[in-house]
Amino acid sequence: MHQTPIHRPLEVQTTDDGSATLFVPELDEHYHSVKGAYTEALHIYRDCAYQYAAERSPSSPLRLLEIGFGTGLNAAVTAMAATPEHPLHYITLEKYPVSPALVGQLGYNAFVDESLFSAIHAAPWEQPSPITPHFVIEKRCCDLLTAPLPTDIDIVYFDAFAPEKQPEMWSAPIFARLYQAMRPGAILTTYCAKGVIRRLLQSTGFTVERLAGPIGGKREILRATKNETE
Ligand SMILES: C[S@@+](CC[C@H](N)C(=O)[O-])C[C@H]1O[C@@H](n2cnc3c(N)ncnc32)[C@H](O)[C@@H]1O
Repeated sequence: MHQTPIHRPLEVQTTDDGSATLFVPELDEHYHSVKGAYTEALHIYRDCAYQYAAERSPSSPLRLLEIGFGTGLNAAVTAMAATPEHPLHYITLEKYPVSPALVGQLGYNAFVDESLFSAIHAAPWEQPSPITPHFVIEKRCCDLLTAPLPTDIDIVYFDAFAPEKQPEMWSAPIFARLYQAMRPGAILTTYCAKGVIRRLLQSTGFTVERLAGPIGGKREILRATKNETE
């Protein structure tokens, strides 16, 4: 790890689908929807982003960038879905890695493959690590605001804390940098469907769709697509 991780007090809480999330008292903010952490990971990220991108592209490797590794839940559900036709290089940025002790208290083994989840967490930071024959993870301990971004990205999971809590993560310069990092036709999904964020994504150059949210959760989510000809 290139920098000393910054830890902060976190609490484990249970969401409505029975899966756990983390609560950050300092921000009064959760890592996932309180309506269902697991359900959110499956719908917004695995299905509306990875599966959707895989269905649209011919057999080819895909490169994914996640903003906020957090508990590793999105990474685990995506690793379980990765196929030989669309092997995935999953790059994930995290400024505040969660301690292994707290990860162990989440009980995600009831929801995702236990050995795969452990392998994702055991993978060293700052280098690509194969987890399955179709899934490589590259965890980067860094600050999105200052870190260089990877290039040729096909899929972005934009899973930052809410804009009211961390407005600097939802800014025009950040979306412009993500846009540059993405391939033509690449997509970004996020749980946040606020009009102000939708318009910000549109002014960056994305075509933005409002999609139905997860069952029992938010009414809408956003999927932004980079122009095919850029
Ligand atoms: C909503 S949570 C992400 C949940 C995660 N995707 C999961 O599956 O558990 C937001 C994450 O962004 C991280 N974060 C906050 N500020 C950041 C920054 N400036 N750069 C990178 N990560 C940041 C937080 O530590 C937290 O893990």
